[in-house]
Amino acid sequence: MDERAAVAEHVSKYYGSIRALDDVSLELKRGEIVGLLGPNGSGKTTLIKLFMGFMKPDVGHVSVLGVDPYEDPSIRARVGYVPEELALYESLTPKEFFDLLARIRRMDPVAYIERLDMLASSFGLKERMNDLIGSLSRGNRQKVAIIAALIHEPDLLLLDEPMTGLDPAVARIFKEILYDMRDKGHSILFSTHILELAEAICDRIVILHRGHVVVEGAVEEVLEMAKDKSLEEVFLEVTGKAHEVYEVIRALKGGA
Ligand SMILES: Nc1ncnc2c1ncn2[C@@H]1O[C@H](COP(=O)(O)OP(=O)(O)OP(=O)(O)O)[C@@H](O)[C@H]1O
Ligand SMILES: [Mg+2]
Repeated sequence: MDERAAVAEHVSKYYGSIRALDDVSLELKRGEIVGLLGPNGSGKTTLIKLFMGFMKPDVGHVSVLGVDPYEDPSIRARVGYVPEELALYESLTPKEFFDLLARIRRMDPVAYIERLDMLASSFGLKERMNDLIGSLSRGNRQKVAIIAALIHEPDLLLLDEPMTGLDPAVARIFKEILYDMRDKGHSILFSTHILELAEAICDRIVILHRGHVVVEGAVEEVLEMAKDKSLEEVFLEVTGKAHEVYEVIRALKGGA
């Protein structure tokens, strides 16, 4: 069995003349949490969409759980995906939505009920299970998207800024659920702008900048190489933002 849950090999992706990814190579092993970092527009969502098989790379190759996800979209049954922009069925209740997913994914009914009960309780969504999704708050809609991605215990989780809108208590519980899944051998790739989160929960981080991988390694390795710098300082420097940010801070402090 391939020990790699997701692989990108020399991937480039263009939107017209915009080069969103340029020769990106990346591997996600089984039982590993990898954080995908990078400034706005650096290509994180594009890479996740390629792993979902929504698009094909213009150059290079991606594989997910051993297959090309564009050629073989049925692999998505073993993947859990939280998109950046939620697209939920507004006129269903969470319970109806999860029941539908369980049927589509042919989940064992007993296992489904148990898992849904555990996830809805953990995320504090039980009391909202019969409200319309369209009536839920931003954070509660995010919980629906996360539970939908986790319910079938996928081998691979692709999470695009999954913490958006979650309150600190829920975010903490979500982290524990991710650790638990990682320890059971599931693989997790998530994009985030929260550097503390990446530092706290990732086995490895990848920093993208203008479609290139500029940093890749275990968090400790990256920090060790950067001597006494914080991950934030490393991020700002490798993405060329340090000067810009410090100028603005100086101006703010100077009352300019
Ligand atoms: N559908 C699209 N059509 C045209 N250009 C696109 C499209 N989607 C993304 N892009 C461009 O591709 C580049 C990478 O975008 P992408 O959404 O992958 O970045 P990101 O790292 O996820 O950013 P963010 O942190 O803001 O979510 C950007 O220049 C963006 O404007
Ligand atoms: Mg994005």
